[in-house]
Amino acid sequence: MFISRNWGLELWLQFLLLAVLNFTCSPGFVQLSNEYINDIKADEAAEQANGEYNYDQQGNDWQGTCQDGLQQSPIELIYSKANVTSISRIRFYNYDQPLQSPLVLTNNGHTANMVLPPTRNGQRAYINGGLLPGSFEAQSVHFHWGSPNSKGSEHTINYERYDVEMHIVHKNTRYADKTVGEASMFADGLAVLGVMFKAVPRLSSQHTGLVRIFNQLPLITEYQSSTMVNGRLTAGQLLGNIITGRFYSYNGSLTTPDCAESVTWTVFQDVVELPRRQIMKLWNLQDSRRYPLINTYRDIQDTNGRPVYYRNLQ
Ligand SMILES: *[C@@H]1O[C@H](CO)[C@@H](O)[C@H](O)[C@H]1NC(C)=O
Ligand SMILES: *[C@@H]1O[C@H](CO)[C@@H](O)[C@H](O)[C@H]1NC(C)=O
Ligand SMILES: [Zn+2]
Repeated sequence: MFISRNWGLELWLQFLLLAVLNFTCSPGFVQLSNEYINDIKADEAAEQANGEYNYDQQGNDWQGTCQDGLQQSPIELIYSKANVTSISRIRFYNYDQPLQSPLVLTNNGHTANMVLPPTRNGQRAYINGGLLPGSFEAQSVHFHWGSPNSKGSEHTINYERYDVEMHIVHKNTRYADKTVGEASMFADGLAVLGVMFKAVPRLSSQHTGLVRIFNQLPLITEYQSSTMVNGRLTAGQLLGNIITGRFYSYNGSLTTPDCAESVTWTVFQDVVELPRRQIMKLWNLQDSRRYPLINTYRDIQDTNGRPVYYRNLQ
């Protein structure tokens, strides 16, 4: 008997779609659009296409481009080795607009992933500026983390590893008719914003959007489980309150198989502080083997002479 590995999420989405159809008449119900459901399915399909992989060897056992590539990520970001040059700031559009809700947060066996829908005005949150070769629309957000006794960011900044690294994946608007997976076949296909999180004993500021996401993590501890994130959430809230004027930028790859070399990286210097009790929730997630999903970061890769640029506040 053939049971698709996709079955769990597929069934859940069908259920959700029915629920949406049933409730469209009730006033105040916010609809999960077909566009959003299709984006979630495409994201899941791309994830499945890369087959089984895990973090047992921090990616050193991954094959193909992951093994042979010369422009791989993550790398060490080091101020004294960077080309500190005049770069325009990253410009954010619709990052202050509420996204269509509810949002769907999924444990895909490798991370907690949330596909981002358009905003309530039907447009997408997008970015340009920096060293980005065009405008890039926000598609999804996910995290990389450590364990109770290790930090888990992918990039290091001046030899420091942080507790968590968040990736907001963007797709070049010139590939608007393609999926994220298809766009990843082009060198200018994707742009990822990297944001470091640091665990702190208590909250210095609220970060309500991030906390709303983290509060749902206990509901997706199992592989292929999903939950909804309700309420008003903007793409900008994902950034906490960091200063976005200081960042590293370089040409690299996805940090998970197939490690496609399609990413213009922008990794911010400034760090989001989150209470440790929020970050702890990530350590309780499980992979497809029901093993703890911990230390979900890939080892540092060789730059192979690639330039790394740094933008300082101007
Ligand atoms: C830094 O980057 C600028 C702009 O690309 C380039 O003109 C310059 O030669 C680079 N400097 C070094 C030291 O690589
Ligand atoms: C990325 O590569 C392209 C093509 O070689 C180059 O024009 C661009 O400056 C590079 N960007 C960065 C951030 O290194
Ligand atoms: Zn990532």
